[in-house]
Amino acid sequence: MNDIEAIIELIEWRDNGYSQGRALPPRSYFDNDLFTLEKHRIFRDGWVCVGRSNELRAVGDYITRVVSDQPLVILKDETNELRALSNVCRHRHALLMQDRGSTSQLICPYHAWTYHLDGSLKATPYMDKPQELECNLPSYEVQEWYGFLFVHLGSPLENISSLASGLDSDLVHYELERQFDVYSNEMEIATNWKMMVENFTESYHLFRVHPNTLEPYTPTKMLEIGVPGSGFNRHYVYYKENFRKQPLGRIVPEPHCDREVVTCLYPNLLLVAAPDSTVWACIEPIDAGRTLLRYGVLQHEAYENEPDYAQIIQDQIDLTEAFNAEDKVLLESIFRGISAPDARSSILSPMEKPILDFASYYTSVLLHDS
Ligand code: FES
Ligand SMILES: [Fe+2]
Repeated sequence: MNDIEAIIELIEWRDNGYSQGRALPPRSYFDNDLFTLEKHRIFRDGWVCVGRSNELRAVGDYITRVVSDQPLVILKDETNELRALSNVCRHRHALLMQDRGSTSQLICPYHAWTYHLDGSLKATPYMDKPQELECNLPSYEVQEWYGFLFVHLGSPLENISSLASGLDSDLVHYELERQFDVYSNEMEIATNWKMMVENFTESYHLFRVHPNTLEPYTPTKMLEIGVPGSGFNRHYVYYKENFRKQPLGRIVPEPHCDREVVTCLYPNLLLVAAPDSTVWACIEPIDAGRTLLRYGVLQHEAYENEPDYAQIIQDQIDLTEAFNAEDKVLLESIFRGISAPDARSSILSPMEKPILDFASYYTSVLLHDS
């Protein structure tokens, strides 16, 4: 039984791995039974980022997502409230909505059962409308934080803002609420979702993987490990001389004008926040070896009237696409390497401390009763 072996290895990591500075055991990145457990304990019983609220501006705007096998439609209802509804018809389980768009009601493609935007059943062609409440679409908790949408499929004990409150000491200087969406994209990567978290939140690899993209701005040798919280890891990358950022119309205090904060708000929101712009990424695991990455760029509104605004945005987009493409190659390589019979739990550099912090969170959630 792989899952038993995988759990035993994780218990061993919990007891010794953190103090020894080792990464999670190789099996934890490709074991299918463990992936099922992750879906239940991490993605079904915690806040999960599902994207940006700018996709839902008007009544009826919707996006579709899958969180822990649960298809969801997230929308703005008639009262302008955000809702996360099951995207599964209560009649015969057809998926209701596809992709994203705008609608005044949810009409099933199979027998046209129709739902209001609050999920209540509106019409059932050629039959009396059932009165059972179970025929309404189940609804889930949804919250917004700095323009990011989070869904919780269970009963949250804490708000996302209190889980993330430790990050405010950094984010307040970057005015994330005044940074607006200028770009978004998505890509599928043949890797495990945890490798994506780990790769994004360590900058040890910048000098080798990103010598012409990130290293010239924020060299590996200038990274600094930050204090983690129970809900996030954190490190900083500092700008090389001449790249200090004092955005238009405001003074960002030291050291925040000299650096970017890099963090994962567990389990799946990745942020590189800077005084003038932010790169974000939201991870959706498909299976143990395939992961969908949605990502985008935010730009501070102060730049909007700059004559070279379009070029500023394009440069940021080009940089984001370039370093994501560079990371994709490595992420797919290490996923192939991790299942090698001679793979062992890695010894990490002190620069990779955020990987240890993430593993500590991961094992505490996954093993909470072990
Ligand atoms: S499955 Fe939706 S109306 Fe029949
Ligand atoms: Fe990278």
